[in-house]
Amino acid sequence: MEDKRILDVTNDVKWIGILDYDIVTFDVVMETKYGTTYNSYFIDADKKAIIETAKNRFSETYLDKIKTVCDPASIEYIVLNHTEPDHSGCLHELLQIAPNATVVGSGNAIRYLKDMLGYEFNYQQVKDGDTISLGNKTLQFIGAPNLHWPDSIYTYLPEDRLLFTCDSFGAHYCDEKMFDDLTGNYDDAFKYYFDVILKPYSKFILKAIEKIRPLEIDQICTGHGPILRSTWKQRVDQSEAMAIEAMQIKDKRRVFIPYVSAYHNTALIADSIADGIRSAGEIDVHVCDIETMELSTIDDHLSKASGFIIGSPTINQNILLQIYQLFALINPLRDKGKLAGAFGSYGWSGEGAKLIESNLTNLKLKLAGESLFIKFTPHNNELEKAREYGLNFGKLILEQALIADPDCN
Ligand SMILES: Cc1cc2nc3c(=O)[nH]c(=O)nc-3n(C[C@H](O)[C@H](O)[C@H](O)COP(=O)(O)O)c2cc1C
Ligand SMILES: [Fe+2]
Ligand SMILES: [Fe+2]
Repeated sequence: MEDKRILDVTNDVKWIGILDYDIVTFDVVMETKYGTTYNSYFIDADKKAIIETAKNRFSETYLDKIKTVCDPASIEYIVLNHTEPDHSGCLHELLQIAPNATVVGSGNAIRYLKDMLGYEFNYQQVKDGDTISLGNKTLQFIGAPNLHWPDSIYTYLPEDRLLFTCDSFGAHYCDEKMFDDLTGNYDDAFKYYFDVILKPYSKFILKAIEKIRPLEIDQICTGHGPILRSTWKQRVDQSEAMAIEAMQIKDKRRVFIPYVSAYHNTALIADSIADGIRSAGEIDVHVCDIETMELSTIDDHLSKASGFIIGSPTINQNILLQIYQLFALINPLRDKGKLAGAFGSYGWSGEGAKLIESNLTNLKLKLAGESLFIKFTPHNNELEKAREYGLNFGKLILEQALIADPDCN
């Protein structure tokens, strides 16, 4: 039996979201050991409005909650601050029982919803600064794009001093008490959510925080996890600090050399490249055999480095799974333009070179000249070539660092 609880956020605003204790992974990649919630809110103003819906799997419970709080036909507005299906998934079902409603979202949100629903619906596109009157209350829209889709906005309800932020300031953390002063400590879930979902968009979270600073807020109504009525300020400050740290962390003189190696040949090349880079100047070089390295550690290295040189032997005309996993962790939004290279040992056909190079290019990294592939055992002259390759790579890293930060030699 699904949970049917409805909670008062203020006298006129109710939480009508879904508690999902059972989810184990989110968006395929995220571990959700504390479950999650899909928060949806009902605003009982002269004109009735809903903010966010819920994941489709829960549509029955969700519609029951809607019917408990109002006559669905009286709903005039459904605001989607973000249209990922964990928030828009019940929109289709809701529109069936709320045919008079106008769907409200950013231009991108409306475009995405048209593609998702595949039929005409009433909508209103809003941009930063727009308002919609609900009679005795007002919806004010705040542009907050790329958190973490291009469609995202925030909605402010000044009469109740509530800010609806969807994924921003949220966490995958399910506790039926739902308010931050009543739930347990969920600091690790909050931080993990920020790291995975929002950190790549740190620049955008800082812009959004700047916009909400002047608002008079009592509570932040998130899209996942607790509603922030006692710690909203701390959570905003914490997000700001984490975003600033993430932006500074991109050390301009740091190179990551991840590789795998069955018979140590690729490993020898890796070490010589690293020596060469170090001889170019003050550069922090991290050479890592990633065969058994945790994905989160690899991701941390990728985010911190300003250059990557990736090594793999050619095995059965291909490269190894760990290297493909690493490609999946490269985030073009975060890593675009970083300097990159490829190396490895091979026996005869050497397909590894092209496979690594093409992936690096497709992921928007900048290839630093020819890559370095050596037949079977790298001998002294070849290891010398690897050092030279490293030296040149290092020089390019230093040049790039100077361009990025001319005051710092
Ligand atoms: C199972 C296996 C399959 C291989 N397949 C290829 C191949 O298709 N093409 C190629 O050029 N070399 C191939 N090789 C040769 C390796 O690339 C070569 O032994 C290389 O030196 C291994 O580098 P490592 O010591 O860094 O693992 C293969 C080697 C093994 C063990
Ligand atoms: Fe999302
Ligand atoms: Fe979400």
